[in-house]
Amino acid sequence: MKRHLLAIFVLFSIQAHAGEEGLSHVQVQTSLAAIQRGAETFMGQCHSCHTLKYMHYGDLKHFGMDQHKVDEWRGDQALDAVISSQMSDEAALQSFAKVPPDLSLMTKAREGGPDYVYSYLLGYYTDKDGMTANHVFPATKMPDILGGSMTSDAAQLEAIRKQAGDIVSFLTWVADPHEQERQRLGYYVLAYLMVLTVLLYLVKNRIWSRLK
Ligand code: HEC
Repeated sequence: MKRHLLAIFVLFSIQAHAGEEGLSHVQVQTSLAAIQRGAETFMGQCHSCHTLKYMHYGDLKHFGMDQHKVDEWRGDQALDAVISSQMSDEAALQSFAKVPPDLSLMTKAREGGPDYVYSYLLGYYTDKDGMTANHVFPATKMPDILGGSMTSDAAQLEAIRKQAGDIVSFLTWVADPHEQERQRLGYYVLAYLMVLTVLLYLVKNRIWSRLK
C-alpha cells in the first residue's frame, strides 16, 4: 500500500514539473488590493485587444472598483454586458493575422498556468538583429505591451514585474472567482467535522460507560 502511494506521489510530482521548465514563478496574490491593481492595469493595457467573455463589466464592481472607472471602461455598453475588446476581429486579423484569444481562462488553459502567463508577459527581449522576440512564445504576434524589452533600468524592470504579477493575480481570480469562497467554506466544514467528532466521542463514552 505504502509503495503504491509513493508511486502515485512520484508520478504526480513528475507531472507537475513537466513543461514548466524555463518559466519564472509568480506568487499569485489573493488580496483585494492586488486584484484591483491588476484589473486596473488589465483594463488600461490589455482590454484594447483582449476579451474576458466570462466576466461582465458589473462584476468589476464586486471587488470594489470605482463606479466611474467601470463606466469609463464600458463606454456605451451595459453593466451586464460581457467584457469585450476594443478592437474588431477584422481589425485584429489585419494587424496581427490573428484574433487575440479570450483571457478569462488563460491562467488555467496553458501548462504552467499563472507562471506561464507571467513569464510570457516578461519574456520579451531584443534579439541580435534588433527584433523583438519572446523566450516563452518565440513566434508570438503580440507586441511587448509592458515594455520589458525596451528598458534596462532596474527600477523600471521591477515595476514591470510587479505589474505583470498583479495582472496574473487578477486573471487567476477571473478564472475562478469563487475559489476564496470555497476555501472559506472548507474551513467551516473542517470546524464542523471537528465539533462533530468530539460530540460523537462523548456520546460513545457515555453509551459504553452504561454498558460496562
Ligand atoms: C495590441 C494588441 C494586444 C494587446 C494590447 C495585448 N495583447 Fe495579448 N495577444 C495579442 C495577440 C495578437 C495574441 C495572439 C498571439 C499569437 O498567438 O501569436 C495575444 C496573445 C496573448 C496571450 C496568449 C499567449 C498564448 O500562449 O497563446 C496572453 C496570455 C496574452 N496575450 C496576454 C495579454 C495581457 C495580459 C495583456 C495586457 C498586458 C495583453 N495580452 C495585451 C494582442 C494583444
